[in-house]
Order: sequence, then structure tokens, then C-alpha cells
Amino acid sequence: MKSPIIEIQRLNFYYGTFHALKEISMMFSENTITALIGPSGCGKSTLVRLVNRMSDMIEGARASGVLRVSGRDIFDPTYEISQLRREVGMVFQIPNPFPFSVYENLIFGHKIAGVSKKDEFERIVEESLKSVNLWDSLKDSLNVQALSLSADFQQRICIARAIAIKPKIILMDEPCSSLDPIATQKIEELVQELKSKYTIVIVTHSMQQAARVSNFTGYMLLGELIEFDKTATIFRNPKDSRTEDYISGKFG
Ligand SMILES: Nc1ncnc2c1ncn2[C@@H]1O[C@H](COP(=O)(O)OP(=O)(O)O)[C@@H](O)[C@H]1O
Ligand SMILES: [Mg+2]
Repeated sequence: MKSPIIEIQRLNFYYGTFHALKEISMMFSENTITALIGPSGCGKSTLVRLVNRMSDMIEGARASGVLRVSGRDIFDPTYEISQLRREVGMVFQIPNPFPFSVYENLIFGHKIAGVSKKDEFERIVEESLKSVNLWDSLKDSLNVQALSLSADFQQRICIARAIAIKPKIILMDEPCSSLDPIATQKIEELVQELKSKYTIVIVTHSMQQAARVSNFTGYMLLGELIEFDKTATIFRNPKDSRTEDYISGKFG
């Protein structure tokens, strides 16, 4: 078997004295989609954010255990955050394009990395817009303000911006929660298409979405990973009664 692209072993995370993630162990294989589900406050965002060390900014936060990305310990102080974030892109709940043009949003990562060739920028913009199915709609409007577009387009631009830096992993924290059902369906289709090139971890409060898009599902509760298995198993044949209670709608 190929080694996992993300490897988490006995991971604990604390906000000060609050124990937010408890002894989490899970493996993610390349080119799979994993959904994280569970009631609000169970630690889903905390876990995905830790994978690209967004937690570095939080005063008093502390992690222990193993978290490897492509075999590399992300807590190793010699592992530079800029390097980690070239491997791991992130898409948030509320679309957050920069207040610039579509074009500038997409080349941003390369610009700060020192690229300055116009033809290279043009290639990056075209490729990344094509990969989120926006090229035909936006190729003649690359200079419009990203923030003036619909929420669906804004979120796809955020995904394109993440893709533009060619990460191996894309983390998505409830990427459809501010979108209507049609836009949600488009993002779900896009996530499926992206699986052939990326490893995707998607947090969702929608069990239907997890069932529709993912290959693997982790069910979290109060900072613990209760069950982690193939999505079909989690939804049809869960082993833990707490998972069953949640997916059958008894709580959450
Ligand atoms: N910056 C923070 N400081 C202190 N506690 C936090 C912080 N962020 C989240 N928490 C707490 O950690 C727990 C998990 O939160 P979160 O990961 O956001 O859950 P979820 O995404 O599953 O809703 C919650 O109890 C939340 O209140
Ligand atoms: Mg959250």
C-alpha cells in the first residue's frame, strides 16, 4: 500500500486549558475525499486548520502527537509554514477572495513567491480557472473585482486560488454553507472532479453532502474521533452506537 499523504497519530490539541482534540488517529490516502462530520463545536475546524498550521496564530494553543504531510512532521520547527502551505491549500466557509481583480487573486501566491513573468501568470490564471469551470465565464472579465461576483463564483475563485499554487491537499471547511442549493451542487461536482489530482478533506454539517461526495468519513464528537471508515460503512453500517445516533438524526 502507498504511504498515506496525511498521517495523524494520537493527536491532541489544546486552546489554553481546553482540550479540543483528543487522541485523534487517522490516515488519508492520496486522491481521496474525506468528509469530517459531527455536531457544532466537536473540533472539525480545529482539526482541518491544524493540518496547515493555522493554529500557530492562536495564543496559548498547543498540540501534541504526530501529524505528517507527505511523510514530513508539520510540527518540526525547520518546516517553514510557507512551504507547508504550498502543499496544503485551504478554502473557508465564507468565500474570502482578496479585494482585487479575478486575475490578481489567482496570481497572488506566485507573485509573493517571486514570479513576475506575464506569460507565466497568464498560464496560471487560465489553468486555475479551467480547473474550477470558470474559464469560459470569466476569460473576458479577468479584471473585474472578485468581490463583485456571485457567492458561487467567489467560492470557485477561492478554490482556484488554492489550486493555483499546486498543492497536494485541499482542505475545505464547510465550503457550501453560504451557498444556495444550485451553487452547492456545482461545488460538489467540482470537488468530485478535483479528486483525480488532489487529496481533499471537507468539513460539512450536512450528512447528505458527506454521503454524496466523500470516499471516507470521520465522525467527531466532543473532540474525539468516534469512527472513521469508508463513507458507505459509516452511513449504512456504523460500528459505534454514537455514530448511528447521529446519522439517524437522534441528535446533532
Ligand atoms: N480560538 C479558540 N479559542 C478557544 N476555544 C476555541 C477556539 N476555537 C474553537 N474553540 C473551541 O474548540 C471547540 C471546537 O471548535 P471547532 O473546531 O470550531 O468546532 P466545529 O468546527 O466542529 O464546530 C469548541 O468548543 C470551540 O468553542
Ligand atoms: Mg467549524
